[in-house]
Amino acid sequence: MIAFETGALLTQLDAVVEANLDRHLASAEDWMPHEYVPWSEGRNFAVFGGEPWSAEQSRLPPIARTALQVNLLTEDNLPSYHAELGRAVGREGAWGAWVNRWTAEEGRHASCIRDYLLVTRGVDPEQLERARMATLQAGFDSGGKPPLHACVYLAFQELATRVAHRNTGRYCEDPVAERLLARIAMDENLHMIFYRDLVRAAIEIAPSDTLRAIADEVAGFVMPGSVVPGFARKAVQIAQAGIYDLRIHHDDVLMPLLRYWRVFETEGLDADGERVRQDLAAALDALDARATRFIARRAETQAWSPASQSRG
Ligand SMILES: [Fe+2]
Ligand SMILES: [Fe+2]
Repeated sequence: MIAFETGALLTQLDAVVEANLDRHLASAEDWMPHEYVPWSEGRNFAVFGGEPWSAEQSRLPPIARTALQVNLLTEDNLPSYHAELGRAVGREGAWGAWVNRWTAEEGRHASCIRDYLLVTRGVDPEQLERARMATLQAGFDSGGKPPLHACVYLAFQELATRVAHRNTGRYCEDPVAERLLARIAMDENLHMIFYRDLVRAAIEIAPSDTLRAIADEVAGFVMPGSVVPGFARKAVQIAQAGIYDLRIHHDDVLMPLLRYWRVFETEGLDADGERVRQDLAAALDALDARATRFIARRAETQAWSPASQSRG
């Protein structure tokens, strides 16, 4: 299977990659990050005679700051993603052009979220820089995924990132942050479409192999931000706030792509492919049940929290 993935299938997908790259270049807007940052709000920090950072300078709710920092640090780790993607799909032809174009677009995301956070004092700059150093030194290792697995993972991951940016923007209750994150989410959407349509083409060529890759990536999905310092604790806070939780992951990330790929209607699977599909259905049911339990527990906790008691 690995030999097939790394060789024949990639070659068969070359024309699809080229067509998807052309479509992407025709639909992607060249937007300007500096037009999304309220520069006049910026002021000096202590070294230039200004005020040092403190939390009350920010207009953002604390969990919005946490979510924005996780999103930013996730975007910051781009050198690792660039290296991983280049390793998985190579540097030749349309794939090589895509790897560099995608990297250039992703590079905007970290720089403008950082600009927004520094200018509006939404982040402790020292803590952010230490976390950035730690994140990039940890790097991101996808575990040497074969190319088909990498495409499936990236379709899920781009959609997850789109949803995370969108929901973070709404949670900020700041029109400037919401506009910036909505703009970034549009980039992530086009990236998702690129990988999504490659996977759809792969299903037509090699349904059983592609289904195995999909099942593996559903089962093993890990957010790229998992190497951010304190990620587990922050992910819980982000889930408690409803910005990104298991219900959202199941309903808004996994299921839309699985439906688009017609995973449960695809014909021509071999016996192993059929077994994998049954296992995938069981895994999704289990995830759905966990999501329901999480939402119920969260509602209970919130009903008994001191804030809700005092609201009467
Ligand atoms: Fe991004
Ligand atoms: Fe992206």
